Amino acid sequence: MHAKWIHIARVWAAPVLAAVVVAVIGSRYLPASAQSQTAKQTERVPPVRFAAVDVTLPSGETVFPPGKGSEIANANCVICHSTGMVLRQPALTVDEWHAEIDKMRNAFGAPIPADQVDELAHYLSTINGRKLDGGPSGVDHQAN
Ligand code: HEC
Repeated sequence: MHAKWIHIARVWAAPVLAAVVVAVIGSRYLPASAQSQTAKQTERVPPVRFAAVDVTLPSGETVFPPGKGSEIANANCVICHSTGMVLRQPALTVDEWHAEIDKMRNAFGAPIPADQVDELAHYLSTINGRKLDGGPSGVDHQAN
């Protein structure tokens, strides 16, 4: 009987000791309770406040100003960008607007029929036109 207990103690001493060591060391690395973690975080992180902000963006023109050819512009020139991209440009001559429209067609694939380009170029020159003697335009002839 006595010898049996000694035998059991010998067999289990090492595993039990190892388990105690692992438990003691491991407990240091156990995650703290959620409560104490929250407490730590609020200690370190300054409080974040969310406030409602009212932002009013400038309203852009959604259609081109009325005139002969404006319907062509409305149908073809706001597919990829706003009217502002066209209206807020330096004034161009009819020919320059023609070249600009051709650039939209050739370079970017604007699906405007070729037989409407003239009328559109005239329309654009009436709303944002430049006389021929006004000097070179800053747009599209920059390399010249
Ligand atoms: C298929 C798309 C598309 C369509 C349709 C389109 N454009 Fe553009 N347009 C662009 C892109 C892309 C730019 C910007 C180019 C850049 O950033 O260099 C642009 C820019 C412009 C500019 C600024 C100057 C420049 O050359 O970059 C003008 C003016 C212009 N477009 C006029 C027109 C007109 C007029 C029409 C109608 C015939 C039109 N666009 C239709 C794609 C398009």
